[in-house]
Amino acid sequence: MGGYDEAYRQSIERPEEFWGEAALGIQWDVAPATVYGDGRWFPDGRLNTCYNALDRHVAAGRGEQAALIYDSPVTGTTRTFSYAELLDEVARTAGMLSGLGVTAGDTVVIYMPMVPEAVIAMLACARLGAVHSVVFGGFAARELALRIDHAKPKVVLSASCGIEPARVVAYKPLLDAALEQAEHRPAHCVILQRPQSAAELVDGRDLDWAPAVAGAEPAECVSVAATDPLYILYTSGTTGSPKGVVRDNGGHAVALHWSMSHVYGAAPGEVYWAASDVGWVVGHSYIVYAPLLAGCTTILYEGKPVGTPDPGAFWRVVATHGVRTLFTAPTAIRAIKKEDPSGKFAKNWDLSGLRYLFLAGERLDPDTYHWAADLLGIPVIDHWWQTETGWPIAANCVGIEPLPVKPGSPTKAVPGWDVRVLDPGGEDCPPGVDGAVTVKLPLPPGALPTLYRDDARYHRSYLDRYPGHYLTGDGGHLDADGYLYVMGRTDDVINVAGHRLSTGSMEEVIASHPDVAECAVVGVADELKGQLPMGFVVLKAGAERDPGEVERELAALVRERVGPVAAFRRAVVVARLPKTRSGKILRATMRDIADGNAYDTPSTIEDPAALPEIARALKGT
Ligand code: COA
Ligand code: AMP
Repeated sequence: MGGYDEAYRQSIERPEEFWGEAALGIQWDVAPATVYGDGRWFPDGRLNTCYNALDRHVAAGRGEQAALIYDSPVTGTTRTFSYAELLDEVARTAGMLSGLGVTAGDTVVIYMPMVPEAVIAMLACARLGAVHSVVFGGFAARELALRIDHAKPKVVLSASCGIEPARVVAYKPLLDAALEQAEHRPAHCVILQRPQSAAELVDGRDLDWAPAVAGAEPAECVSVAATDPLYILYTSGTTGSPKGVVRDNGGHAVALHWSMSHVYGAAPGEVYWAASDVGWVVGHSYIVYAPLLAGCTTILYEGKPVGTPDPGAFWRVVATHGVRTLFTAPTAIRAIKKEDPSGKFAKNWDLSGLRYLFLAGERLDPDTYHWAADLLGIPVIDHWWQTETGWPIAANCVGIEPLPVKPGSPTKAVPGWDVRVLDPGGEDCPPGVDGAVTVKLPLPPGALPTLYRDDARYHRSYLDRYPGHYLTGDGGHLDADGYLYVMGRTDDVINVAGHRLSTGSMEEVIASHPDVAECAVVGVADELKGQLPMGFVVLKAGAERDPGEVERELAALVRERVGPVAAFRRAVVVARLPKTRSGKILRATMRDIADGNAYDTPSTIEDPAALPEIARALKGT
């Protein structure tokens, strides 16, 4: 392949040729005769994703190579699984699920901490053609219940506890509470008992993971259609009900396999580490599926960038396991920089094997970029993507041709993604002018084909606004060289420490407080976490309450109902919310005020005095 321009042009002008060639990287049970048809990629192909991630490599002689290294500073454990060992564990876990009646097309919810069994569970579902839905451990019972009711799993896989640096988080009581709140009843829950905290099992419903797997026969791979779903991953939308992003088997395998060599420049046998969580899309794509599809060694890290035990934690993992590519969120680098501004902890480790640092999940601010690039002396690569897309939309594709870096930009559109920045009328914005970042259809393989059991919402959320285009929900611009600048969400989604959250779901919870008449939650800028949620609440008439006490109660309520990951701590009591004459709350203006930015008073405002009131209320806190 030639340089970036040539690859990009081919992918847009001759997509079937481009992706047909990429599809040769996958082992098919039935090779697709059609690359793209009826709006789907590889519609007549058949494969098994787990086969491509494990069996295929063992058959090709990679059985002894490390597939997965579990490194857990919070438990003081490191464990390596070779490809052959991981295959054995996955096949037996699939056998266990099969014994519980799970077959192709059934859904399985996985609510687990960062332990190898979480990865094994995902691959075991893929092996059977079952559809997993992983729920991030930092969500509360109510969020888990919402997802259980929507996904309707036959089986739930969970663990007794997760381990945060300061506390052991008992997962099982959260699961029990979720199942009490949910209407759907899974036939079984299989619980991994961890030594840090044992879970009580419900007779008849719950099984103990270890004996259940030990007694199971290994299961073989089930061949599925390329268009069959591999997983559902719920992500925050603008309302309290999360969107079930669907990923198919064929397009996903082709795109992820292609991305490993072309976007990340990673080769089989190399150690690739995405320091994220299996509960997020980065974890799905780049802890589990892509590195294994590519025959790399992947790292599963149960710890934090700081405090487990110090800001040298990432550098220890890199040096100890020979990591060549590290992928994390800018917030993790900011956390390290805050505790170790001179980078002295990095100097304690031999980082000479590290080739690239990739960052995503939120905008990479130029300060963080320069700090990391100076410290490591390697390419630091910002790249932009979303749960919906499954893999990067914009990146510096080092495996094709490294392009000059422009700090603040994730470089250019990745082959396959026809990125267009549109003005409100649907016309292309000129270079340098901000607009809605969209992708001209068709989306490449691997991107979501729909939302689970809600195709109408899929169309409403992504396709209706600009016909023929996918609406990303991000705003930004292209420069004269075609570099993309992604400036932030244009909807009510916020990004807290690289975690995507919905202000709508927090507003629902706050509105349920007996003294709250009305509320709005906005994401305000935070030096470490990028954004933090801040609530503005109007109390019911006659509610004479101490604002500090209200704030504490609301923080506790959001923690209990949405989860600790929301990091909701600030709520300001105001006399009224600024609104337009048609009743729309002016969230963006409130955010500007909270960030200390200059703000315009919209001409549609109902009462202009409401804005300075917000500023005064903030000053008083
Ligand atoms: N299970 C239970 N609780 C969890 C959890 C999990 N899996 N993950 C996080 N939490 C809790 C934390 O314990 C914390 O609780 P606390 O309020 O009692 O302290 C809260 O949720 C917020 O967690 P977190 O966002 O991790 O903040 P932090 O202050 O503990 O750490 C960072 C800050 C920057 C170090 C951390 O957010 C980080 O490493 N971020 C990287 C994000 C990332 O990888 N994103 C994925 C996209 S690449
Ligand atoms: P998620 O679906 O959790 O991956 O979050 C996706 C959102 O995170 C995007 O819509 C962006 O708002 C933001 N995001 C992710 N990566 C980047 C990046 N490199 N630059 C700017 N924003 C990003």
